[in-house]
Amino acid sequence: ERVVVLAGGLSHEREVSLRSGRRVADALRGTGIEVFVHDVDASLLPFLDEIKPDVVWPLLHGASGEDGSIGDVLELLGIDYVGTGPRASRAAWNKPIAKNVVLGAGIDTPDYVTLPQSLFRELGAQPVLDAVVGRLGLPLVVKPTRGGSALGVTLVRRAEDLPRAMVDCFSYGDIALIERAVEGTEIAVSVVDGPDGPEALPAVEIVTDGTYDYDARYNPGRTRYYAPARLTPEIARHVGDVAVRAHVALGLRGLSRTDLIVDADGNAQFLEVNVAPGMTETSLFPQAAQAAGRDLGDLYRAIVTQGVN
Ligand code: DAL
Ligand code: MG
Repeated sequence: ERVVVLAGGLSHEREVSLRSGRRVADALRGTGIEVFVHDVDASLLPFLDEIKPDVVWPLLHGASGEDGSIGDVLELLGIDYVGTGPRASRAAWNKPIAKNVVLGAGIDTPDYVTLPQSLFRELGAQPVLDAVVGRLGLPLVVKPTRGGSALGVTLVRRAEDLPRAMVDCFSYGDIALIERAVEGTEIAVSVVDGPDGPEALPAVEIVTDGTYDYDARYNPGRTRYYAPARLTPEIARHVGDVAVRAHVALGLRGLSRTDLIVDADGNAQFLEVNVAPGMTETSLFPQAAQAAGRDLGDLYRAIVTQGVN
């Protein structure tokens, strides 16, 4: 088997992707697979043409990796790849679209509005923000509709902090998703497609002093993780079921990670799904695999082998 791992790319999450790519490549090599790691640049297509891989694993986070573009290119070239196809990626990557799809599948998701930056210019920011707070209350979470690693995301407790949060959000994208902040336990549930269909790995619980921002994600020791999450068996089953249903409803393939809040009633509230979940040393997917007692090399090998389209 000859695998090309794509890592890097030009998104805001380039550094994360390089780290994910290295980790996955090392684990795959440990199982005897021949692995090449390549960035997304002008030498990629000639390289693929020369190497002729059996399969490509796009470990690209953020735009072009998760928005379906790289999948489109690989399909054009007729090269097999790991993970979700372009159309489903495009929908999953867009948070409000993903929320609507899972809502249709009977999954709870926090109430929200989406606001394009142009509307702020046309109507003036303050009247719009007043209406948002009037409708959704506080606290709120502001995030770009398309993004990752919590870049441009702010938890807003006071109305006067909203304008600043909007500016930060619009520096990463031109549409904001403003969501009611749900109190509860923050968890991530990874899903892998197995021989018997999609299977949820144990939920991983995230505990931070402040917010689970970029620094808290990628600096070891900044965040406490519980893998498996400290949930009752019943709630653990429920969150696994929700993540599998989201994976199926969104048409995802190979692997995914759904991020959720377990609210005070024990209900899983869908926040978002990742078609290229982080695979760094502090990331959630590898922790879930280890909590399930799965050897990372064997699991990645199974993903690569089954991921062939
Ligand atoms: N967007 C990052 C890579 C993650 O979800 O793990
Ligand atoms: Mg994400």
